[in-house]
Amino acid sequence: MAARHISRFIRALFLIAIPLTLAQAQDFKKQVIYQIVTDRFNNGDASNDNPPQSSGLFDSTKANWRLYWGGDLAGIQQKMSYLKGMGVTAIWISPPVDNLNLNIPDGNGNPTAAYHGYQARDFKRIEEHFGDASNTWAAFDSLVSTAHQNGIKVIVDFAPNHTNDNGAGEFGSLYDSGTFLAAYNNDPNGYFHHNPNISNFNDRYQLQYYTLFGLSDLNQESPAIDGYLKAALQQLAQHGVDAFRIDAVKHVTWGWEYSMQNAIFNNAPSFIFGEWFQGNTSDSLYHDSFKFTNKSGISLLDFPLNTAIRDVFANNNAFSEIDSTLTTENSNFTWQNDLVTFVDNHDMPRLLSVNNNMNRLNEAMAFVLTCRGIPVIYYGDEQYLHNDTNGGGDPFNRLWMSSFSTTTTAYSLINKLSTLRQTNNALGYGTSQQRWINSDVYIFERKFFNDVALIAINKNDATGYSIGGLNTALPPGSYSDYLVGLLGGFGITVNSGSGGNNPVVNFTLPAHTVAVWQSVGSVPAPEVGSIGPTVGQPGLSVTIAGKGFGATTGSVLFGATAAAIQSWSDSSVKFTVPSVANGVYNAQLKNSSGTAANTIQFTVLAAKLIPVTFTVNNATPTNAGDYIFLTGNTVELGNWSTTWDGAVGPMLDPNYPNWFLNASMPAGKTIQFKFIKIAADGTVTWENGSNHQYTVPTSGTGFVTVNWQS
Ligand code: NOJ
Ligand code: NOJ
Repeated sequence: MAARHISRFIRALFLIAIPLTLAQAQDFKKQVIYQIVTDRFNNGDASNDNPPQSSGLFDSTKANWRLYWGGDLAGIQQKMSYLKGMGVTAIWISPPVDNLNLNIPDGNGNPTAAYHGYQARDFKRIEEHFGDASNTWAAFDSLVSTAHQNGIKVIVDFAPNHTNDNGAGEFGSLYDSGTFLAAYNNDPNGYFHHNPNISNFNDRYQLQYYTLFGLSDLNQESPAIDGYLKAALQQLAQHGVDAFRIDAVKHVTWGWEYSMQNAIFNNAPSFIFGEWFQGNTSDSLYHDSFKFTNKSGISLLDFPLNTAIRDVFANNNAFSEIDSTLTTENSNFTWQNDLVTFVDNHDMPRLLSVNNNMNRLNEAMAFVLTCRGIPVIYYGDEQYLHNDTNGGGDPFNRLWMSSFSTTTTAYSLINKLSTLRQTNNALGYGTSQQRWINSDVYIFERKFFNDVALIAINKNDATGYSIGGLNTALPPGSYSDYLVGLLGGFGITVNSGSGGNNPVVNFTLPAHTVAVWQSVGSVPAPEVGSIGPTVGQPGLSVTIAGKGFGATTGSVLFGATAAAIQSWSDSSVKFTVPSVANGVYNAQLKNSSGTAANTIQFTVLAAKLIPVTFTVNNATPTNAGDYIFLTGNTVELGNWSTTWDGAVGPMLDPNYPNWFLNASMPAGKTIQFKFIKIAADGTVTWENGSNHQYTVPTSGTGFVTVNWQS
């Protein structure tokens, strides 16, 4: 007892004495993410169950699904060896910041609380139910340091779109480390947008400027809110956060988010992915989604693929749905291996609630763990956890984590495929190719130079299929199942063919089987698989990852200009973006003997980014389907591009014929710009006259208003 006290005391001293653990993110393509609803995972500290400033929001009986149940940051920390043993390399936790303190009764008068973390009141303090009653960072720091000691990165869910409910409770109250800033009903400085609830989820203006489900919508163009949110992100980085999941990224001002991305990387290396909710690639804003991610450097959760995965594995649709979704997305997304893939999350019924078939969940998990993209496992899926009340949706998909068994099939599956992700670059960096398909069978190949993985899935529960005419890039030879029969797999024999198509000896793929065959090849030249961030200004630190760079420092070239190298290893090179003209580059890594790798795209900005609101009055006439865009003389402005994807926009016209758009611009630079009309039929019309000119502020946010020159 006494010894325990002493060691706790030493530990406390230690925490004070050592600097906070630094962020460890470099290359997220090799990660396996585990998503945790903090309140529902594990109660590691009973003293924070019912804290004084928000007492009564805790239900020890776990009968009210919309109250706190006791899970906390200490609880996650205590399960670190469970997570590590599963092969998890990154945890995504609920928004940990201080949330709404009051109960807001639901329609039936039952109390509800923000146990999920999406109703912030203070982005600079830790929620008392997750940490301690003084809202300090102690439990958070302790979790991050234990995670890092176990090689596990920490992803924080960050919700910059809103604070809390605008019509009840604390009426959206926002605090800065305990100091009151404003509330929705007490907002003299315009920190919030005061618009109705979003009714049309296809309307770009409503999405960004209206209210999401009654949540007080923050005005990111206010310099105070811009500075506040970026300072909160910086504080999280200083507390060792490795990456961010940006909540409701489609509802935050899109142009502002480019500057948020830039601010995050100006703090530390990171990885950022946003929740752009959409059904599939036919969504009316699907094009906006890939334009946003390709340009902003913020990756996205892959909702279209998620829909296809659920349709195929739970609802028995044919594999062609997954295959065609991948084909479409892979042609649209520049950084497809950075898309974040998942089977389940906290906003949809668990797969087992849709179809109570453990084989299907195993197969779906094996698919996301091997397909292109960074996989997320939703907590409890490895224990086959589900509660099917009302179809199993929110909140019944956020059930208490009642078992931590390390012997489930899924636990072993995740561990094995996480290991493969580290040892075979095909999973993290490779291309994707469908090799054999019918409605129940999907055989696909991942390939990164000479590293290959071939994955075969038969989801039919009763019928086996004979597989003939299958080709692979695996070299001739015999391959055993990497999963060692865990999901019914077996060995195959590959014969010699030509052109990267080696025939596989015919075999039968039995019912509900997943097999993985793989090979790691030689490295004749350096191979680049990743760059992060994908966009940034001269002076920023960037990491290129891959294979065979050699132990001795080589070079990274932007055109003829060599970047200053900060560190060099066989698989990872950190460098500083050189002072070259802004634009899109093919960065070229060479090893110390001058052997060139494949190039990789990087966008050099003119300077760090500042959000600027552009307004052009009287941009008329336009017909339905015609839009006004912004274009100008730097890469941030599209370098005078006149295409939908190249110019900045489309602009928004809530006050037609005036149009506006927030866009992130190079700090301190004098920019030249013009507005163009891109008609529904593609015809481009320039405004007349000379270019507009504007000097972007060096800090804060900017505003510029001009008239359309007719
Ligand atoms: C999406 C989150 O995933 C969801 O759970 C939350 O309620 C909304 N955004 C609002 O923050
Ligand atoms: C071409 C456009 O026609 C013109 O209007 C614009 O000013 C220049 N690009 C940019 O200098």
